[in-house]
Amino acid sequence: MGKSSVTANLAVALAREGKDVCVIDADVYGFSIPKILGVEDEPTVRNDKIEPPKVLGIKVVSMGFFVGEEQAVIWRGPMLHKALQQFVTDVNWGEPDYVLVDMPPGTGDVAISMSQFLPWSELLVVTTPQHAAERVAQRMAAMAEKVNLRVVGVIENMSYFIGDDGKRYEIFGSGGGAELAEKLGVPLLGQVPLEQVLREGADEGRPVVEYAPQSESARAIVEIARRLDEMEPPARPSPIPLEEAQRLSPLGERQPGLGQPGEAGRQPGRGVPSSPGRSTPIPLRLTPKKKPER
Ligand SMILES: Nc1ncnc2c1ncn2[C@@H]1O[C@H](COP(=O)(O)OP(=O)(O)OP(=O)(O)O)[C@@H](O)[C@H]1O
Ligand SMILES: [Mg+2]
Repeated sequence: MGKSSVTANLAVALAREGKDVCVIDADVYGFSIPKILGVEDEPTVRNDKIEPPKVLGIKVVSMGFFVGEEQAVIWRGPMLHKALQQFVTDVNWGEPDYVLVDMPPGTGDVAISMSQFLPWSELLVVTTPQHAAERVAQRMAAMAEKVNLRVVGVIENMSYFIGDDGKRYEIFGSGGGAELAEKLGVPLLGQVPLEQVLREGADEGRPVVEYAPQSESARAIVEIARRLDEMEPPARPSPIPLEEAQRLSPLGERQPGLGQPGEAGRQPGRGVPSSPGRSTPIPLRLTPKKKPER
């Protein structure tokens, strides 16, 4: 609970630290990132690439820019896969330090697709204190195995609430995050309190980390961003020279690092390759909506 809010605010925290940050909203059915971050601009198309809008210095792409809410639900199977692929390969991301991917609930198709396009990404688990650690751990471990990605940390959300009396109330119990982290053998990166200002900020497109940086929840998320930044960057597949990649490609245009599993990857900071040159042509084209529905 709170995946999107945590993702959006972590992005803001990293951007405030001077990092080049991108957010891919992979929740194609229930996209919420544009609203939480308060994205006002729309993507444009330049040289056949989608230029993502920026907010607070963060580049963002979301299905919300391309379809109306009611359309999103029909995206299934191969179409969904292609749309997600375009989020990675047809968007002009530059050379980001971080690419945060907001996942939909569950462990289905989207996770499998994204793990193929970004094979060196890592998983962060957002949980709440009362979630049965045992069950979540099993589910996460199964998912990590299925998509062949590593879980690197746990973030506990809604950990406590500080009342007007200054007392700390553990509304949803305590210990779930720490227990889950221990079971997964990864660090608990932080505990984010339940706070009204976070919820209001998300509703109004004014993320707390930017607009209420002194709040408890903002400070907790900034601290999590620092810990994340201190961690070792993910081990990536070692790059193969471009010539070699082109020789291997029947069309002579396949680029290294476009994210096929086991294929070579480029090495920008942590994140997506910057899709040099042409990407593989695919029939489905995402075109920005004329009038965004927000
Ligand atoms: N720490 C918090 N304090 C207050 N409100 C919060 C907190 N975390 C999340 N919320 C609120 O809870 C609701 C759900 O959060 P969010 O959309 O981030 O969850 P999610 O896990 O992404 O949900 P979904 O599974 O639907 O994608 C939102 O209204 C959000 O503002
Ligand atoms: Mg969400």
